[in-house]
Amino acid sequence: ARVDKGGHRHFMAKEIAEQPSVLSDTLNAYLTDSGIALPDPGIDFAALDRLTITACGTAYLAGFTAKYWFEQIARLPVEVDVASEFRYREPPITPNTAALFISQSGETADTLAALRYCKGKASALYSVVNVPESSIARESDLALPIHAGVEIGVASTKAFTCQLTVLLLLALKAAEDRGHLPPAARDEILTHLRALPGVFNTALGRDEVIENVAQELAEARDILFLGRGLMYPLAHEGALKLKEISYIHAEAYASGELKHGPIALIDQHVPVVVLAPRDRLFDKTVSNMQEVMARGGRVVLITDAAGAESAGAEAWRVIQMPEVSDLLAPILYALPAQLLAYHTAVAKGTDVDQPRNLAKSVTVE
Ligand code: AGP
Repeated sequence: ARVDKGGHRHFMAKEIAEQPSVLSDTLNAYLTDSGIALPDPGIDFAALDRLTITACGTAYLAGFTAKYWFEQIARLPVEVDVASEFRYREPPITPNTAALFISQSGETADTLAALRYCKGKASALYSVVNVPESSIARESDLALPIHAGVEIGVASTKAFTCQLTVLLLLALKAAEDRGHLPPAARDEILTHLRALPGVFNTALGRDEVIENVAQELAEARDILFLGRGLMYPLAHEGALKLKEISYIHAEAYASGELKHGPIALIDQHVPVVVLAPRDRLFDKTVSNMQEVMARGGRVVLITDAAGAESAGAEAWRVIQMPEVSDLLAPILYALPAQLLAYHTAVAKGTDVDQPRNLAKSVTVE
């Protein structure tokens, strides 16, 4: 079927706005009354000693986030690689290691080659894909569809948050299989997950604030993104999204790594976007934010009400997100990162849906 922009100015705007509805589709596909259900033959995470995740670009950053989830809640060691590096490094695949590949298109050449490298070496090949009839899905032992619907904008948005949702569900299933998640704790997280589409809707209502910040960011030549813990991979996604559509140079750093070099870049011309809900690491991130401000840096703080109350007054601009539980924050905080990139690109007048030099699916090496 032909897909149109549904009244939006760009496919990217439409796909960002669709997230409450596609996230519901993803959740409905995997959640039953009794908990998390995977398609046959399922995955027995208790039998695994390690998981290796391979992908490119935004899909890689979904995998990078998943590493934090799998390790923290399921105590399952995870290696995560960009596909173009993975196979040439010839990594040994140790016994009881499963390989997981993430790809919106399911046709990315490097990711497919990484999957073929793992054939006969890994205990099983799993994929998280948006296109169920794609090459990567077909060559996997089990393909897990993300149900994001067709994504047309070159900059991946709804596919990313749907990938994250499937990956979090997998991490929860792994935690259950491995005896690290009592039913009460699992049910609490699932309740939060079921509420997530509604929270996304509320967050979409902050669009105007984000647009105003974006107008100012559009003047910058370089922008830094900082995050800690679960917000660190997301800082990379914020930087990637911004550079691919606005052509502004952006880099991401782990907040605590700033003082090991990149802080030398800071002055009033380099805005710094700090992703920091008020979680257990918040105070540490705030102290990194203060290091930036002490050097004249302008901080855009993306946080929740509690974070805004405790540190918002010091920041140059604050983007306030609705409350969300810590584990789910990377999914929700993807939204302001996407909107910031989108509005910055619109302010600069770039071709948002078809940015220069990029293809939606990279089928050559
Ligand atoms: C994201 O905004 C990109 N355009 C790009 O990084 C993309 O995620 C990457 O090429 C991977 O594509 P895939 O998910 O189809 O494998």
